[in-house]
Amino acid sequence: MQSEADPWEPATLAVVGTGYVGLTTGACLASLGHDVTCADIDAGKIERLRNGEIPIVEAGLDEVVGAAVAAGRLRFVTGAAAGTAAADIVFLCVPTPQDEDGSADLSYIEAAIHEIAPVLKPGAIVVNKSTVPVGSTRVVERALERTDVSVVSNPEFLREGTAVFDFLHPDRVVIGGADETAAKTVARLYAPLDTEILITDAASAETIKYAANGFLAMKISFVNAVAAMCEAVGADVAHVVEGIGSDHRIGRAFLQPGPGWGGSCFPKDSRALVSIAADHGYDFSMMRGVIEVNDQQRVRMIEKISRAAGRDLVGDRPLDGMTVGALGLTFKAGTDDLRESPSLAILDQLERAGAIVTAYDPTTAGELDHVQRDRLGSMRLATSAVAAAADADVVVILTEWQEFSCLDLDAIAATMRGSAIVDTRNILDPAAVRAAGLVYDGVGRS
Ligand code: UDX
Repeated sequence: MQSEADPWEPATLAVVGTGYVGLTTGACLASLGHDVTCADIDAGKIERLRNGEIPIVEAGLDEVVGAAVAAGRLRFVTGAAAGTAAADIVFLCVPTPQDEDGSADLSYIEAAIHEIAPVLKPGAIVVNKSTVPVGSTRVVERALERTDVSVVSNPEFLREGTAVFDFLHPDRVVIGGADETAAKTVARLYAPLDTEILITDAASAETIKYAANGFLAMKISFVNAVAAMCEAVGADVAHVVEGIGSDHRIGRAFLQPGPGWGGSCFPKDSRALVSIAADHGYDFSMMRGVIEVNDQQRVRMIEKISRAAGRDLVGDRPLDGMTVGALGLTFKAGTDDLRESPSLAILDQLERAGAIVTAYDPTTAGELDHVQRDRLGSMRLATSAVAAAADADVVVILTEWQEFSCLDLDAIAATMRGSAIVDTRNILDPAAVRAAGLVYDGVGRS
């Protein structure tokens, strides 16, 4: 194993799990020069990867995977054990979904540990990249039952849709563990990235991950609450965001109002933060407030959409016969991920109240895979924004896809039954909407 003084050399690595974190991590580490074997329990997925199919929408991932495979530095195998026996360092990038009580389900981690413990080389290092509750590095150490193997935490800060860029241009790399030599060995893997590397203890590294996501979710809930206030006092949230974001202590990022945050991370991690704190005797009431504002934001959007169509939400099916043209289903633009999408939550509630929804999203306009079909149920899908707007009393923009910022508003107005557009992402120019004879409502834009 390399020491700090040695010249930088590529390492032999394994990555367990080939989701957007695992596949991005494996491919990008290979692009840095390391020799990487990516393993997954799903033989079908591995077969598709071997055939050059990338199962997830991630900008630049095709190219990074293709180049690494062509250079002979990246390969795919089925089963964690097959991929890890020769590795000096093994990255765990398996899911840590949410249990009902908000705690993280570590069963995938435990299954991976059980499989790799017998085959790991003496002196190997296991790296926890999955988002795991504080204290999990110790859990992995105990589960491994190997005194000749070290475990470190190396949380990821990858955003879906920009994971490759985020991996290759990190603001920092965080590594935590009791074995400082192991932590420094893992740190050296990232040396070509020329970024700040923070080496700390495992609990701090695990807490950094949750605190980072909690803070980002808080910023978004804060601006959504400010947007509600702007509507009440007649202010423009875009100007307020510019006025506070220009303060370097606040910053402009993650201050874009919307229908609330979603995805596979913020909802899970914000609840886990509250749960982990409570398990250790602290009531993280601020984080509960951040979650509450986010839940309320969806209700506010439903009220906004109903009001725009001249309806109120009284009675058991108050929106009977109301037609909605929905633009955007994914939890944000740039990804095909529908998990915990605010759009789906809002549209589901509208349908439960009697509305008839027709939706268009660039990622669901074609043939749906089984995951998408499962999540979309019986929702009526259109193949274009204008088709989704046909006979709609109200059109609502729920995901900030670029194509929605330059809609043919005259065609939309001509095909609608009503004349209201609710823009939950503030991506349209209200004056252009009005010029097309439509009524505009955004979020925090009086
Ligand atoms: C997030 C974190 O950003 C990333 O660092 C972590 O590793 C994983 O979780 P991700 O969930 O992929 O990444 O997406 P992100 O871009 O953070 O957006 C999360 C949600 O917040 C989305 O629903 C998005 O629409 C919403 N959002 C984001 C806003 O509503 N306003 C903003 O200004 C930014």
